[in-house]
Amino acid sequence: MRILGIETSCDETAAAVVERGRVLSSVVRSQVDLFEEFGGIVPEISSRRHLELIHTIVKQALKRAGVSLEDIDVVAVTKKPGLIGSLLVGYSYAKALSYGLKKPLVGVDHLHAHIYSAELDGRFRFPLLGLVVSGGHTAAFLVRGLEFKVVARTRDDAAGEALDKIAKKLNLGYPGGPIIERMAKGGNPESFEFPVVKLKDGSLDFSYSGLKSQAARIIDREELKGKRLNDFLASFQKAIVDQLIDRLDSLVKIYNPAEIAITGGVSQNQHLRGRAMEFAKKRRLKLHLPEKWLCGDNAAMIAYLGEKMFKAGYTEDLYSSPFPRTEASKGEKQFQK
Ligand code: KG4
Ligand code: ZN
Repeated sequence: MRILGIETSCDETAAAVVERGRVLSSVVRSQVDLFEEFGGIVPEISSRRHLELIHTIVKQALKRAGVSLEDIDVVAVTKKPGLIGSLLVGYSYAKALSYGLKKPLVGVDHLHAHIYSAELDGRFRFPLLGLVVSGGHTAAFLVRGLEFKVVARTRDDAAGEALDKIAKKLNLGYPGGPIIERMAKGGNPESFEFPVVKLKDGSLDFSYSGLKSQAARIIDREELKGKRLNDFLASFQKAIVDQLIDRLDSLVKIYNPAEIAITGGVSQNQHLRGRAMEFAKKRRLKLHLPEKWLCGDNAAMIAYLGEKMFKAGYTEDLYSSPFPRTEASKGEKQFQK
């Protein structure tokens, strides 16, 4: 069985071909060059760009996999969450393909797909505690097969969003995460003190806006340059990771998972990867970390999960539509633990 995956939920136009869990090709065209000058994504520009690129990217993915459209058995596409204009481009394209080819369509949750991107290094054992740490979301799921229960999510900013916003305030460029990682290398992470934010109601949800405001106040107060700037960025990066490890620790104690996975764009960060490995070793837990090329947005993860979903009987009809949010989105009604 061959699955064509399509991903356009944010600022990457991506297509991939997966065959029985094996990635035959994965093409990702980033739009970051368009957004450098804005310090963040402009949704309208992003969706127009997806429209220009999608056909070429799908053709490239098929070519690299050495297959043609007729060889595709299932079309899998990101259904939610994301920028609605961007999602609509990929979803409409996938629907049209599915209709034209008379092949089934599977609508995939982008966050669930991020988690399953970590299974390409070895089969999951359940229950699995999966973290998605990206620019749009920071959430933890308890996963059993295709059942995903949100057990924590951010109340305000996502971890990557906080990194992006602080980089923007310092005029360092976009996306901020990799730039901060690079500049933090020469810095001392103990130079600035940031507390691990705990929520007053005892919830294990994440919260990054307080940390971001504290960092912004320091930037307003002090002219950060040279080594001092490196120190500041190393401390801020560490603070972001401290909160992730703190919540992971509490969630592991409560849910006692068989394994853990850390995924999403921010999981490319070496400091986070190192701390997560240390944590897993201490707890004697198997940690799944996606290879770096699978951490950011891509369509291989959509096709990979799409195959599992198709086998389990999930398909979409042609009247279905994409949706911008999920239960893991910030501001959704509080769920019960
Ligand atoms: O998963 P992703 O590609 O897109 C979303 O679904 O949001 O994640 C993008 C986020 C951005 O906030 C970016 O700054 C962050 O991932 N990121 C990193 C690194 N590479 C990307 N954050 C920290 N360190 C990195 N090396
Ligand atoms: Zn993502």
